Amino acid sequence: MEKEKKRFHPGAEERLIFADSQHTGLMRVQNSAGSSLASEKTLARNGHSLSRMTTTKRPVLRVSPRDIDEAQKRLKGLVIRTPLVPLNLEDSQVDIYLKLENLQPTGSFKVRGAGNAIELLSTEQRAKGVYTCSGGNMAQALAWHAQRHRIPCTAIVPDTAAETKLAGIRRYGADIIQVPFEDVWKVATDHVYPPLKDRTFIHPFSNAHMIAGNGTVGLEILDDLPDVDSVIVPFGGGGLFAGIAIAMKSRKPQVNMYACEPDTACAFAASLAAGSPKHVERTPSFLEGTGESDVLPEIWDLVMPLAAGSLVVSLKEVASAVRVLFERHRVVAEGSGASSLAAALTGKLGSGPVVCVMSGGNIDPSTLKMILDGRVP
Ligand SMILES: Cc1ncc(COP(=O)(O)O)c(C=O)c1O
Repeated sequence: MEKEKKRFHPGAEERLIFADSQHTGLMRVQNSAGSSLASEKTLARNGHSLSRMTTTKRPVLRVSPRDIDEAQKRLKGLVIRTPLVPLNLEDSQVDIYLKLENLQPTGSFKVRGAGNAIELLSTEQRAKGVYTCSGGNMAQALAWHAQRHRIPCTAIVPDTAAETKLAGIRRYGADIIQVPFEDVWKVATDHVYPPLKDRTFIHPFSNAHMIAGNGTVGLEILDDLPDVDSVIVPFGGGGLFAGIAIAMKSRKPQVNMYACEPDTACAFAASLAAGSPKHVERTPSFLEGTGESDVLPEIWDLVMPLAAGSLVVSLKEVASAVRVLFERHRVVAEGSGASSLAAALTGKLGSGPVVCVMSGGNIDPSTLKMILDGRVP
Protein backbone atom coordinates (compact mmCIF):
# COMPACT_ATOMS: atom_id res chain seq x y z
CA MET A 1 0.00 0.00 0.00
CA GLU A 2 2.62 2.46 -1.01
CA LYS A 3 1.77 5.64 -2.71
CA GLU A 4 4.50 6.71 -5.06
CA LYS A 5 4.64 10.43 -5.35
CA LYS A 6 7.08 12.45 -7.40
CA ARG A 7 7.93 15.42 -5.25
CA PHE A 8 8.55 18.82 -6.81
CA HIS A 9 9.57 17.82 -10.32
CA PRO A 10 9.17 14.53 -12.07
CA GLY A 11 12.13 12.88 -13.72
CA ALA A 12 15.53 13.66 -12.40
CA GLU A 13 14.56 14.65 -8.87
CA GLU A 14 14.85 12.13 -6.08
CA ARG A 15 12.19 9.48 -5.96
CA LEU A 16 10.55 9.69 -2.60
CA ILE A 17 8.02 7.05 -1.92
CA PHE A 18 5.51 7.68 0.79
CA ALA A 19 4.28 4.79 2.83
CA ASP A 20 0.82 5.04 4.37
CA SER A 21 1.45 4.13 7.96
CA GLN A 22 1.30 5.41 11.45
CA HIS A 23 3.48 2.48 12.50
CA THR A 24 6.42 4.13 10.91
CA GLY A 25 9.04 1.79 12.37
CA LEU A 26 7.34 -1.17 10.70
CA MET A 27 6.77 0.18 7.25
CA ARG A 28 10.14 -0.23 5.66
CA VAL A 29 11.09 -1.65 2.32
CA GLN A 30 13.75 -4.13 1.35
CA ASN A 31 16.81 -1.99 1.16
CA SER A 32 19.30 -2.19 -1.63
CA ALA A 33 21.98 -3.90 0.42
CA GLY A 34 19.64 -6.81 0.89
CA SER A 35 18.96 -6.35 4.61
CA SER A 36 15.66 -7.83 5.56
CA LEU A 37 13.24 -5.15 6.53
CA ALA A 38 9.66 -5.32 7.68
CA SER A 39 7.07 -4.96 4.97
CA GLU A 40 3.35 -4.94 4.41
CA LYS A 41 3.39 -8.73 4.87
CA THR A 42 4.88 -8.30 8.33
CA LEU A 43 2.21 -5.77 9.13
CA ALA A 44 -0.47 -8.18 7.99
CA ARG A 45 1.11 -11.03 10.00
CA ASN A 46 1.09 -8.82 13.05
CA GLY A 47 -2.59 -8.20 12.57
CA HIS A 48 -2.32 -4.60 11.42
CA SER A 49 -4.76 -3.49 8.80
CA LEU A 50 -3.25 -0.84 6.58
CA SER A 51 -6.63 0.44 5.54
CA ARG A 52 -7.54 1.17 9.15
CA MET A 53 -4.43 3.15 9.90
CA THR A 54 -4.43 6.88 10.07
CA THR A 55 -2.39 8.09 7.14
CA THR A 56 0.85 9.91 7.80
CA LYS A 57 3.34 10.67 5.08
CA ARG A 58 6.63 8.90 5.58
CA PRO A 59 9.21 9.15 2.83
CA VAL A 60 11.20 6.07 1.88
CA LEU A 61 14.51 6.29 0.05
CA ARG A 62 15.62 3.58 -2.33
CA VAL A 63 19.20 3.27 -3.52
CA SER A 64 20.56 0.09 -5.10
CA PRO A 65 24.16 -1.05 -5.72
CA ARG A 66 23.35 -0.65 -9.42
CA ASP A 67 22.44 3.02 -8.88
CA ILE A 68 25.93 3.45 -7.41
CA ASP A 69 27.61 1.68 -10.36
CA GLU A 70 25.72 3.95 -12.75
CA ALA A 71 26.68 7.02 -10.75
CA GLN A 72 30.32 5.96 -11.02
CA LYS A 73 30.08 5.86 -14.83
CA ARG A 74 28.27 9.18 -14.89
CA LEU A 75 30.90 10.85 -12.71
CA LYS A 76 33.92 9.62 -14.67
CA GLY A 77 35.99 12.63 -15.60
CA LEU A 78 33.84 14.99 -13.51
CA VAL A 79 35.29 14.22 -10.08
CA ILE A 80 38.57 12.84 -8.81
CA ARG A 81 39.26 9.24 -7.92
CA THR A 82 40.76 10.20 -4.58
CA PRO A 83 43.81 8.45 -3.11
CA LEU A 84 43.69 6.07 -0.16
CA VAL A 85 46.86 6.63 1.85
CA PRO A 86 48.24 4.84 4.93
CA LEU A 87 48.33 7.03 8.02
CA ASN A 88 51.82 8.31 8.60
CA LEU A 89 51.91 7.87 12.39
CA GLU A 90 54.48 5.36 13.60
CA ASP A 91 53.13 4.83 17.13
CA SER A 92 49.54 4.10 15.98
CA GLN A 93 48.29 0.72 17.25
CA VAL A 94 45.81 0.56 14.39
CA ASP A 95 46.40 0.04 10.65
CA ILE A 96 44.70 3.23 9.44
CA TYR A 97 44.07 4.51 5.89
CA LEU A 98 42.79 7.92 4.87
CA LYS A 99 40.39 8.39 1.96
CA LEU A 100 41.25 11.94 0.95
CA GLU A 101 38.01 13.55 -0.25
CA ASN A 102 39.40 16.99 0.62
CA LEU A 103 41.22 16.75 -2.73
CA GLN A 104 37.97 16.88 -4.70
CA PRO A 105 37.07 20.04 -6.62
CA THR A 106 35.37 22.33 -4.02
CA GLY A 107 37.17 20.46 -1.24
CA SER A 108 34.68 17.79 -0.19
CA PHE A 109 32.96 14.53 -1.19
CA LYS A 110 29.78 16.45 -2.03
CA VAL A 111 30.80 16.90 -5.68
CA ARG A 112 30.09 13.21 -6.23
CA GLY A 113 26.39 13.26 -5.28
CA ALA A 114 25.76 16.78 -6.54
CA GLY A 115 27.35 15.86 -9.89
CA ASN A 116 25.20 12.76 -10.17
CA ALA A 117 22.03 14.71 -9.36
CA ILE A 118 22.82 17.55 -11.76
CA GLU A 119 23.64 15.21 -14.65
CA LEU A 120 20.19 13.63 -14.26
CA LEU A 121 18.20 16.87 -14.53
CA SER A 122 15.86 17.37 -17.47
CA THR A 123 16.27 20.33 -19.84
CA GLU A 124 13.24 22.00 -18.27
CA GLN A 125 14.64 21.57 -14.75
CA ARG A 126 17.98 23.01 -15.83
CA ALA A 127 16.25 26.06 -17.25
CA LYS A 128 14.31 26.71 -14.02
CA GLY A 129 17.31 26.23 -11.76
CA VAL A 130 18.24 24.36 -8.60
CA TYR A 131 18.68 25.07 -4.90
CA THR A 132 19.91 23.32 -1.81
CA CYS A 133 20.30 23.84 1.92
CA SER A 134 23.71 23.24 3.36
CA GLY A 135 26.34 23.88 5.99
CA GLY A 136 28.39 25.06 3.02
CA ASN A 137 29.99 22.05 1.33
CA MET A 138 26.91 20.87 -0.52
CA ALA A 139 26.23 24.42 -1.63
CA GLN A 140 29.73 24.77 -3.08
CA ALA A 141 29.53 21.41 -4.83
CA LEU A 142 26.11 22.11 -6.34
CA ALA A 143 27.15 25.62 -7.38
CA TRP A 144 30.30 24.24 -9.04
CA HIS A 145 28.36 21.74 -11.15
CA ALA A 146 25.55 24.23 -11.86
CA GLN A 147 28.09 26.74 -13.12
CA ARG A 148 29.51 24.17 -15.57
CA HIS A 149 26.02 23.81 -17.05
CA ARG A 150 25.02 27.47 -16.62
CA ILE A 151 22.14 26.43 -14.36
CA PRO A 152 20.83 29.06 -11.89
CA CYS A 153 21.68 27.95 -8.36
CA THR A 154 20.74 29.21 -4.89
CA ALA A 155 22.16 28.03 -1.57
CA ILE A 156 20.35 28.35 1.76
CA VAL A 157 23.11 28.32 4.37
CA PRO A 158 23.29 29.00 8.11
CA ASP A 159 24.32 32.45 9.26
CA THR A 160 27.23 30.71 11.00
CA ALA A 161 28.69 29.23 7.77
CA ALA A 162 32.49 29.31 7.50
CA GLU A 163 33.79 32.27 5.49
CA THR A 164 35.84 29.96 3.27
CA LYS A 165 32.65 28.10 2.28
CA LEU A 166 30.71 31.31 1.58
CA ALA A 167 33.59 32.55 -0.58
CA GLY A 168 33.52 29.27 -2.54
CA ILE A 169 29.76 29.46 -3.15
CA ARG A 170 30.14 33.04 -4.43
CA ARG A 171 33.11 32.09 -6.60
CA TYR A 172 31.00 29.41 -8.30
CA GLY A 173 28.31 31.96 -9.07
CA ALA A 174 25.45 30.83 -6.81
CA ASP A 175 23.11 33.12 -4.87
CA ILE A 176 23.24 32.81 -1.10
CA ILE A 177 20.37 33.05 1.37
CA GLN A 178 21.65 33.09 4.97
CA VAL A 179 19.21 32.07 7.70
CA PRO A 180 19.49 30.69 11.26
CA PHE A 181 20.66 27.06 11.46
CA GLU A 182 17.20 25.88 12.58
CA ASP A 183 15.67 27.29 9.37
CA VAL A 184 18.24 25.47 7.23
CA TRP A 185 17.36 22.25 9.03
CA LYS A 186 13.64 22.94 8.45
CA VAL A 187 14.25 23.03 4.69
CA ALA A 188 16.01 19.67 5.03
CA THR A 189 13.09 18.21 7.00
CA ASP A 190 10.38 19.67 4.74
CA HIS A 191 12.23 19.00 1.47
CA VAL A 192 11.20 22.44 0.27
CA TYR A 193 11.91 26.15 0.72
CA PRO A 194 8.58 27.68 -0.35
CA PRO A 195 9.98 30.88 -1.97
CA LEU A 196 12.01 28.69 -4.37
CA LYS A 197 9.45 25.95 -4.93
CA ASP A 198 9.47 26.35 -8.72
CA ARG A 199 13.05 25.17 -8.83
CA THR A 200 14.40 21.65 -8.29
CA PHE A 201 15.50 21.08 -4.70
CA ILE A 202 18.60 18.91 -4.46
CA HIS A 203 18.53 17.67 -0.89
CA PRO A 204 22.03 17.57 0.60
CA PHE A 205 21.65 14.04 1.97
CA SER A 206 18.09 12.65 1.73
CA ASN A 207 18.21 12.25 -2.04
CA ALA A 208 18.73 8.97 -3.89
CA HIS A 209 21.04 10.53 -6.50
CA MET A 210 23.18 12.16 -3.81
CA ILE A 211 23.45 8.88 -1.93
CA ALA A 212 24.33 6.95 -5.10
CA GLY A 213 27.07 9.47 -5.87
CA ASN A 214 28.38 9.19 -2.30
CA GLY A 215 28.46 5.41 -2.73
CA THR A 216 31.21 5.71 -5.32
CA VAL A 217 33.59 6.44 -2.41
CA GLY A 218 32.87 2.91 -1.18
CA LEU A 219 33.57 1.33 -4.58
CA GLU A 220 36.98 2.98 -4.69
CA ILE A 221 37.84 1.89 -1.13
CA LEU A 222 37.04 -1.74 -1.95
CA ASP A 223 39.09 -1.61 -5.16
CA ASP A 224 42.11 -0.15 -3.35
CA LEU A 225 41.89 -2.13 -0.11
CA PRO A 226 39.92 -5.38 -0.52
CA ASP A 227 41.08 -6.46 2.98
CA VAL A 228 39.39 -3.52 4.68
CA ASP A 229 37.90 -4.51 8.04
CA SER A 230 36.14 -1.30 9.12
CA VAL A 231 35.22 2.04 7.61
CA ILE A 232 34.52 5.18 9.64
CA VAL A 233 32.29 7.80 8.02
CA PRO A 234 31.52 11.29 9.40
CA PHE A 235 27.74 11.40 9.93
CA GLY A 236 25.68 14.56 9.57
CA GLY A 237 22.42 13.91 7.75
CA GLY A 238 23.65 10.38 7.02
CA GLY A 239 23.79 10.50 3.20
CA LEU A 240 27.52 9.86 2.99
CA PHE A 241 27.27 6.96 5.40
CA ALA A 242 24.27 5.52 3.52
CA GLY A 243 25.97 5.59 0.12
CA ILE A 244 29.26 4.09 1.29
CA ALA A 245 27.52 1.46 3.42
CA ILE A 246 25.23 0.32 0.59
CA ALA A 247 28.18 0.08 -1.83
CA MET A 248 30.40 -1.80 0.59
CA LYS A 249 27.96 -4.10 2.40
CA SER A 250 26.50 -5.31 -0.90
CA ARG A 251 29.97 -6.44 -2.01
CA LYS A 252 31.53 -7.33 1.32
CA PRO A 253 28.81 -7.95 3.93
CA GLN A 254 31.29 -8.58 6.75
CA VAL A 255 32.79 -5.09 6.59
CA ASN A 256 32.04 -3.04 9.72
CA MET A 257 30.51 0.33 8.93
CA TYR A 258 30.91 2.91 11.68
CA ALA A 259 29.51 6.42 11.75
CA CYS A 260 31.27 9.09 13.76
CA GLU A 261 29.73 12.15 15.40
CA PRO A 262 30.89 14.90 17.73
CA ASP A 263 29.68 14.76 21.33
CA THR A 264 28.11 18.20 20.80
CA ALA A 265 25.22 16.49 18.96
CA CYS A 266 25.17 12.79 18.18
CA ALA A 267 21.63 12.01 17.09
CA PHE A 268 22.60 8.79 15.32
CA ALA A 269 24.41 7.34 18.36
CA ALA A 270 21.43 8.27 20.57
CA SER A 271 18.99 6.76 18.06
CA LEU A 272 20.97 3.51 17.78
CA ALA A 273 20.99 3.26 21.58
CA ALA A 274 17.23 3.81 21.73
CA GLY A 275 16.37 1.66 18.69
CA SER A 276 14.47 4.47 16.94
CA PRO A 277 15.17 8.06 15.79
CA LYS A 278 15.79 10.30 18.79
CA HIS A 279 16.09 14.07 19.06
CA VAL A 280 19.14 15.41 20.93
CA GLU A 281 20.14 18.90 21.96
CA ARG A 282 22.72 20.40 19.57
CA THR A 283 25.56 22.67 20.60
CA PRO A 284 27.07 24.41 17.55
CA SER A 285 30.75 23.64 17.02
CA PHE A 286 33.52 24.03 14.45
CA LEU A 287 32.27 20.80 12.83
CA GLU A 288 29.82 22.36 10.39
CA GLY A 289 28.88 19.25 8.39
CA THR A 290 28.24 16.81 11.24
CA GLY A 291 26.62 16.83 14.65
CA GLU A 292 22.87 17.09 14.00
CA SER A 293 20.00 16.98 16.44
CA ASP A 294 17.91 14.48 14.43
CA VAL A 295 18.15 11.58 12.01
CA LEU A 296 15.46 11.92 9.34
CA PRO A 297 13.19 8.84 9.38
CA GLU A 298 13.87 7.86 5.76
CA ILE A 299 17.63 7.97 6.44
CA TRP A 300 17.20 5.98 9.64
CA ASP A 301 15.41 3.23 7.73
CA LEU A 302 18.24 3.06 5.22
CA VAL A 303 21.25 3.21 7.55
CA MET A 304 20.13 1.50 10.75
CA PRO A 305 20.48 -2.07 9.37
CA LEU A 306 23.91 -1.29 7.91
CA ALA A 307 25.61 0.36 10.89
CA ALA A 308 27.93 -1.39 13.35
CA GLY A 309 27.72 1.68 15.58
CA SER A 310 28.39 5.38 15.87
CA LEU A 311 31.66 6.50 17.45
CA VAL A 312 31.33 9.70 19.45
CA VAL A 313 34.36 11.99 19.66
CA SER A 314 35.14 15.12 21.63
CA LEU A 315 36.07 18.44 20.04
CA LYS A 316 39.51 18.07 21.61
CA GLU A 317 40.02 14.71 19.87
CA VAL A 318 38.88 16.21 16.57
CA ALA A 319 41.22 19.19 16.92
CA SER A 320 44.07 16.79 17.63
CA ALA A 321 43.23 14.80 14.45
CA VAL A 322 43.18 18.02 12.38
CA ARG A 323 46.67 18.74 13.73
CA VAL A 324 47.96 15.22 12.97
CA LEU A 325 46.68 15.47 9.40
CA PHE A 326 48.38 18.80 8.90
CA GLU A 327 51.67 17.99 10.61
CA ARG A 328 52.11 14.40 9.38
CA HIS A 329 50.45 14.54 5.96
CA ARG A 330 50.29 18.21 5.00
CA VAL A 331 46.58 17.51 4.60
CA VAL A 332 44.17 20.32 5.48
CA ALA A 333 41.06 18.81 7.07
CA GLU A 334 37.97 20.53 8.37
CA GLY A 335 36.61 19.34 11.71
CA SER A 336 33.93 17.03 10.28
CA GLY A 337 36.46 15.54 7.87
CA ALA A 338 39.01 14.81 10.58
CA SER A 339 36.45 13.35 12.99
CA SER A 340 36.81 9.90 11.36
CA LEU A 341 40.51 9.87 12.17
CA ALA A 342 39.78 11.12 15.69
CA ALA A 343 37.44 8.12 16.11
CA ALA A 344 40.01 5.64 14.76
CA LEU A 345 42.73 6.99 17.05
CA THR A 346 40.61 6.21 20.11
CA GLY A 347 41.64 2.59 19.36
CA LYS A 348 38.12 1.23 19.86
CA LEU A 349 38.08 -0.74 16.61
CA GLY A 350 40.83 -3.30 16.97
CA SER A 351 43.88 -3.45 14.74
CA GLY A 352 42.21 -2.82 11.37
CA PRO A 353 42.67 -2.20 8.51
CA VAL A 354 40.45 0.78 9.21
CA VAL A 355 39.59 3.33 6.53
CA CYS A 356 38.80 6.86 7.71
CA VAL A 357 36.80 8.85 5.21
CA MET A 358 38.38 12.30 5.33
CA SER A 359 35.28 13.94 3.96
CA GLY A 360 36.33 17.56 3.53
CA GLY A 361 38.99 20.21 3.92
CA ASN A 362 37.08 23.50 3.98
CA ILE A 363 38.27 25.00 7.23
CA ASP A 364 38.68 28.73 7.85
CA PRO A 365 42.39 29.64 8.11
CA SER A 366 41.74 31.30 11.50
CA THR A 367 40.21 28.06 12.86
CA LEU A 368 43.11 26.01 11.51
CA LYS A 369 45.60 28.42 13.07
CA MET A 370 43.87 28.13 16.43
CA ILE A 371 44.14 24.34 16.25
CA LEU A 372 47.79 24.40 15.18
CA ASP A 373 48.44 26.72 18.13
CA GLY A 374 47.14 23.93 20.40
CA ARG A 375 43.70 25.38 21.08
CA VAL A 376 40.23 23.85 20.58
CA PRO A 377 37.98 26.22 18.57
C1 LIG B 1 32.98 17.61 5.48
C2 LIG B 1 31.70 16.89 5.71
N1 LIG B 1 31.75 15.65 6.20
C3 LIG B 1 30.65 14.94 6.43
C4 LIG B 1 29.40 15.46 6.18
C5 LIG B 1 28.19 14.64 6.51
O1 LIG B 1 27.53 14.23 5.34
P1 LIG B 1 26.03 13.71 5.44
O2 LIG B 1 25.19 14.89 5.75
O3 LIG B 1 25.75 13.10 4.11
O4 LIG B 1 26.01 12.73 6.57
C6 LIG B 1 29.29 16.75 5.65
C7 LIG B 1 27.98 17.34 5.36
O5 LIG B 1 27.84 18.44 4.93
C8 LIG B 1 30.46 17.49 5.41
O6 LIG B 1 30.42 18.73 4.93
